[in-house]
Amino acid sequence: MLDALDQQISNEFSASFSYLAMASWCEHRQFMGAGHWLRLQSAEEYSHAMKLFNFVLARNHQASVSRIDNPGGDFTSLLEVFEAAQTQEQAVSRQIDGLFELAFQEKVFAAMAELQWFVTEQVEEEKSIREIVAKMRMVKDDPSSLLDLDRELGARAAAPQAP
Ligand code: FEO
Repeated sequence: MLDALDQQISNEFSASFSYLAMASWCEHRQFMGAGHWLRLQSAEEYSHAMKLFNFVLARNHQASVSRIDNPGGDFTSLLEVFEAAQTQEQAVSRQIDGLFELAFQEKVFAAMAELQWFVTEQVEEEKSIREIVAKMRMVKDDPSSLLDLDRELGARAAAPQAP
């Protein structure tokens, strides 16, 4: 269970780096609103990693960060950026589900309670990305609609940090 939690700390840091690479792609192309949204998402993922990091320490184990994946960063369109974000969130949901199942099987009740927060969080994260991807597919390459969408993304307020 401990190894799996350590792996998830790395997974959340990887997600944070990946969102930062996406923000960089967007801002370099003057999609500043999308960049803002992705920077906030990167910060959220950082807070997820730290939440698990703190949990492992609170359970009297030494938390470790094993490996951070190369975040990549080559995209051909704004839609492709957010489709990649959606794929990433779906992958994280599967990781969290797997962790929860392991905690259940091994009867690690404290981990189950901790992971419950992540299960709920993933529902919200998948929902918000799904909405953005749907809107981007609707507007396609229409410049004025893309700029409107970029402005909308730029209005995202910082989410509360993970408890
Ligand atoms: Fe921490 Fe978006 O998963």
